[in-house]
Amino acid sequence: MKKFHSLFISLVLLTPLLGGCFEKKEMAQENSKLAVPHHKTVPKSSIEVHHNGIVSHPESIPVLVNKQNKLPESYQPDDLVDPNIPFIFAGKSEKRKMRAEAAAAIEDLFAGALKDGVKLLGVSAYRPYSKQKALFQQYVRQDGVEAAKTYSALPGTSEHETGLAIDVTGGDGKCAAEDCFSGSKEAKWIEAHAAEYGFIIRYPKGKEAITGYQYEPWHLRYVGKKIAADIMSRGITLEEYYR
Ligand code: DAL
Ligand code: ZN
Repeated sequence: MKKFHSLFISLVLLTPLLGGCFEKKEMAQENSKLAVPHHKTVPKSSIEVHHNGIVSHPESIPVLVNKQNKLPESYQPDDLVDPNIPFIFAGKSEKRKMRAEAAAAIEDLFAGALKDGVKLLGVSAYRPYSKQKALFQQYVRQDGVEAAKTYSALPGTSEHETGLAIDVTGGDGKCAAEDCFSGSKEAKWIEAHAAEYGFIIRYPKGKEAITGYQYEPWHLRYVGKKIAADIMSRGITLEEYYR
């Protein structure tokens, strides 16, 4: 009876402790579910492609547009606006336009750069399909098709057609979309701070085999702050982000 009594007492005392252990384990499992990296929570639909490689949600902010994932030919962003930033050229042009969210973000980025004593200028932002087609053809005439493909996108595959990309340069306007922009004070500032404003350097050095393009330190792509921070801190490309 005494033995039974002490067993009973032990069970009563131990149960909450054991229960606590199970609870902890369950909580740990629950937490590990919550700890799924945020990049995995991006809706798959945002990058979903049809079997023919046409992106089905071209309006999605983190949309993947590249040589394999084309925009529908008829796609035109419906919220293009003129960001209030200086460009290397004067006057009205559709090249100034960006989608509203990206436009607000590039205004913030330019203001942030200026605070740090870095003056930036826009070179070229939105391009419709027809403009990208003419541009690509011009480069083909200039350098031949194979060379052109390493630095210019075929129509329907350029991020400039999404209104989410912009080429920028330094305040003196030199080295606009030219290799000499690489290593400049402005390029260094962008590398260090673009993500704070939701932008990534879309075609990084050493990632040519993945992006399909040569290094373009001037081509900024808006993806939103969370994704930009993840991509830039890990030193990866948008392609690798979705793997
Ligand atoms: N220069 C980039 C790849 C474009 O043409 O969109
Ligand atoms: Zn560009």
